[in-house]
Amino acid sequence: MASGQLSRAEALACSGCRHACHVMLYADTKAQLFGRIPIKHIILMQMRFDGLLGFPGGLVNPSEETLESGLSRELSEELGLALPISVEDHVDSCFAPPSSPSSSSRLITHFYVKKMDEEQIREVERAAASTAADHGLEVLGMVRVPLYTMKGGGGLASFLSHSFIGNARSQLVHSMLRLNLVSPRELHKALTHSLKTHA
Ligand code: GTP
Ligand code: MN
Ligand code: MN
Ligand code: MN
Ligand code: MN
Ligand code: MN
Repeated sequence: MASGQLSRAEALACSGCRHACHVMLYADTKAQLFGRIPIKHIILMQMRFDGLLGFPGGLVNPSEETLESGLSRELSEELGLALPISVEDHVDSCFAPPSSPSSSSRLITHFYVKKMDEEQIREVERAAASTAADHGLEVLGMVRVPLYTMKGGGGLASFLSHSFIGNARSQLVHSMLRLNLVSPRELHKALTHSLKTHA
């Protein structure tokens, strides 16, 4: 386990901590951009009310709900449909960097990954843009992550140059690597280029 990380049990033992759960929903696809660039995978993120990119999910109260049922509740609000999340979907838990020096209780962020079918992802996108209670309010829209790199550097590198909430960017990068959604070489290239364009 990397430094700063907690087991699920250790995290729940912290009674004074606040908890937030977020999930990366993704699917495989055969679709091709311009009929020639394989998309390979669909990863869903969202444009938040604060202009930052993040994953769907939110604050959970472990004294009233399990982490997973709380995450499902957040997904109903933000995506407009009930998605069952199980303990097996849990990836890691870690302390969020303190948002301000005066903030009283520490926040623990729990991260989940759930693989779906392409058609299920499309259903999530439709619901998020129509029936979701938070649409246009807390959530400005769902976005797919471009995983390819175009000649000239567009694609993943440009996406990674945007601003992300908390450690959502590293959750994305580590998941792409761990699940082999992008080759280490391509990811390294995109990360290097995104740092250059970021400055
Ligand atoms: P409210 O309903 O307004 O309370 O929002 P919410 O419950 O949907 O909470 P939100 O999704 O904003 O998450 C709560 C906190 O978790 C945020 O203030 C961030 O500090 C952090 N956070 C939000 N999204 C992510 C994410 O994708 N990854 C990580 N690591 N942290 C996140
Ligand atoms: Mn066109
Ligand atoms: Mn929410
Ligand atoms: Mn949220
Ligand atoms: Mn909430
Ligand atoms: Mn809310």
